[in-house]
Parts: sequence; structure tokens; C-alpha cells
Amino acid sequence: MCRYFPYRCVVRWAIVVQSWTVLTLTNSQLTPALVPSCPTQCICLSQSQVVCNSAALRGVPSALSSSVMQLSLSRADLRVLRSDAFAHLRQLRRLSLDACNLTRIRPFAFRGLPRLDELYIQNTPLATVDSFAFAALQNISSIVLSHNRIAQIESYAFAGTNFIKLISLRNNPIKRILAHAFSGLNDVSQIELPSGVKSIEPQAFAGLEGVGILELAYMDLPALLADTFFGLTRVGKLVLRESDLGIIRVGAFDGLRRVDILEICNNKIDRVEELSLIQNNSVQTFKLTGNHMLETPEAVILEVDDIIIRGNHLPCECGLDPMLNPLAMTSDFADENLCISPLKVRGRSLSSAAGSVCRGDGGGSARARAAACASPVGENLAQPLTLTSLVIAFLANS
Ligand SMILES: *[C@@H]1O[C@H](CO)[C@@H](O)[C@H](O)[C@H]1NC(C)=O
Ligand SMILES: *[C@@H]1O[C@H](CO)[C@@H](O)[C@H](O)[C@H]1NC(C)=O
Ligand SMILES: *[C@@H]1O[C@H](CO)[C@@H](O)[C@H](O)[C@H]1NC(C)=O
Repeated sequence: MCRYFPYRCVVRWAIVVQSWTVLTLTNSQLTPALVPSCPTQCICLSQSQVVCNSAALRGVPSALSSSVMQLSLSRADLRVLRSDAFAHLRQLRRLSLDACNLTRIRPFAFRGLPRLDELYIQNTPLATVDSFAFAALQNISSIVLSHNRIAQIESYAFAGTNFIKLISLRNNPIKRILAHAFSGLNDVSQIELPSGVKSIEPQAFAGLEGVGILELAYMDLPALLADTFFGLTRVGKLVLRESDLGIIRVGAFDGLRRVDILEICNNKIDRVEELSLIQNNSVQTFKLTGNHMLETPEAVILEVDDIIIRGNHLPCECGLDPMLNPLAMTSDFADENLCISPLKVRGRSLSSAAGSVCRGDGGGSARARAAACASPVGENLAQPLTLTSLVIAFLANS
């Protein structure tokens, strides 16, 4: 019948589910043979699918059938998940703990779930990911921890966890990434971190081995410290973008190993003490694009197969020969990067601005000055205008 009237099957199935639900809710004790036992705060949609979304539920129900594959405890009042909280549910594949008032996850809470594939914990008051909270999880598609109040990930929170496709920490107030936060985590396709990170401790990524994409965006750092990436190994793509990186300290990339692509794009960088990627780092491609650097880098060492340095805004002050910039490592460096200062050449390519800067300052001829300002208005007007925009730029930066 289903083949010819598929909608009838849907209707029939819905009726079965509904009556089963009613049975389960009302007389689970009266009809033990007919209906598998189901805890009072739950709806057992089938032997394998259970929904317990009652705020009256405190804790993981212990009376569930061991054949449950999909379990939702959304909106339950769980508070604290103890160690091995789900060990009696070895068949679990999908576990949803959204909005379940979770405040703490004890070490190894999810141990003993060899088939778990998707884990969701969103919209909870969870503020800290304790050490080993997500330890010993394997072959999971996604661990989704977005929209919580996570401010801190303690060291080894994901230890012994591997072959994960996605760990999402989006939309959490994480301000600081502590050392060894990801230690013992291996082979993750992607880690999504939230925006607004304000500090990354040295060795924050130590012991993280095998990441497809690690993207750090919308950060507000005073500095990229020495050894920030120490002990991070085997990365497909490491991206630092749309952030205030502050000062790039000597040794920021020390101890980073085997990276296919390292991309630093669209950041503001106050100063580069040293940008060093030596052979040891085994970085194949380095891309530095669209960054605003307030000072000329002091030292740059790039022992990398492929280098792309393009669309960056760099100082062009009088006396700075663009080809003497330590970043001048690509053939079209001066054509493909732009001046950030002084104001009158801002936005022009390094090559076109070269020479016009010094002439504009005082001693040069009136014609050269007019050309450098590239302004249709008279010189008398151009001067105060420049001053005004300087003040605006200063205010905007402060
Ligand atoms: C959540 O847990 C707190 C204690 O941690 C409790 O005071 C509160 O009533 C719970 N809220 C809900 C909606 O269950
Ligand atoms: C997880 O996957 C890896 C590689 O795909 C495999 O070697 C390993 O046995 C799997 N582990 C479990 C617990 O299924
Ligand atoms: C290269 O890496 C090794 C460890 O893998 C380290 O002992 C050595 O000091 C590094 N060399 C340099 C020049 O940093």
C-alpha cells in the first residue's frame, strides 16, 4: 500500500506514534509487554528514539533502554553532568542537551559512547569547559558548543578525542585561550572559535595534532606572543584574519610544524618584532594580504615554498625605500602593496609613491607638492584639509 499511497503511511505512522506516546505517558506500568518501559518525563518515540524535554527531569534518566540511539534532553534541568553519565547508553548516536540548564561537565562525562556521532550543547549557562570534559570521544561528526556562556576552556578539555569533523565554539564569551586548551586532540577537520578573543597564552594550541582548518578571527590582542603556536602540528590551513594582532613578538610562530597554508589577512598590526617562518616550521604557502601595518617590520625570515604578499598597507615615510622593506620578497611587492602613511600618499602603491614623499615635505618644488597631494584644490586649501583629516584619523584610531 505504501508504494501506491505513500501519504497514507505517513498518516498511519503519525497515528501510531501519537497513540504510543499517549500510552507511554499514561500507562507505562499497565502495559509493560506492549510498550517498552519509558521514564515518566520522556516520550519514547521508538526503541531507538527518546525525547525527554521536561523541566521536571533532573539528571540523565537511568531507566532508558540500552538500545536508544537518539536522545534529546533539551529543556531538562540537568545542571551537572557526572562522569560516565551516558555509559548505560552505548548505542547512542545523536545526543542533544540544548537548553538543559547545564552548568558543569565532569571529566569523561561522555566516555563509553563508541558510536556517538553528533553532540549538541547549546543555549546553556555552561561557563567553563573543565579538563577532560570532552575526553575520549572518537569519530564524531560534530561537537556543537555554540551559544553558551563558555569563557574558559581548561587544559586537556578534549584529551584523547580524535577523528572529529567539527568542534564549534561559536558565540561564546571566550576572552582567553589557555595553554594546552586543545592538548591531546587529534585529527579534527575544523575548529570554530568565537570572536572577541583578547589573549592567547603561549602554547595554547600545544598538543593539537592534525587540524584541517583553524581560523582565528575578530580577535583583539595586545600581542601575538612567543610560542603562541608552539606544538601545533599538521595543519591544513591556519588563518589569522580580521583581527587586531597588536605586536607580533619574536618567536610567535616558533614550534609550529607542518602547515600547508598560513594566511594572515585583513588584520591591523601595530608592529612586527620578527616574522619568522623557518624551514623547521614546514609551511608550504604563506599569504600576507590586506593587512594594515603601522610600522615597517623589523625582521622577516620566510623559508617557505610559496609566498604571497599583496594588498598590505605599509608606511611610506620619507627615506623608506620600499624595496628595502624586509617584506620585499616577491617580485611585484612595490606594485601590489600600498602606503598607509603619510596621509598624502595613503592608498597609493609603494612604487608610485616612492620619491614623491620627501619632495612634498617642505623643500620640494610647488609642482611636486601639488602632484604628491593629487588634489584639484589649491595648495592653500590643501594644507588645512590634510590637517583636518589627520585629526580625524587620530580620533578614529584612539
Ligand atoms: C537551573 O539551575 C539553577 C541551579 O543551578 C536553578 O536555580 C534554576 O532554577 C534552574 N532553572 C531551570 C529553568 O531549570
Ligand atoms: C575511528 O576511525 C578511525 C579511522 O577512520 C578508525 O581507525 C578507528 O578504529 C575508529 N574508532 C572507533 C572507535 O570507531
Ligand atoms: C628544529 O626543530 C627541532 C625539533 O623538531 C629543534 O630541536 C631545533 O632546535 C629546531 N631548529 C631550529 C633552527 O629552530
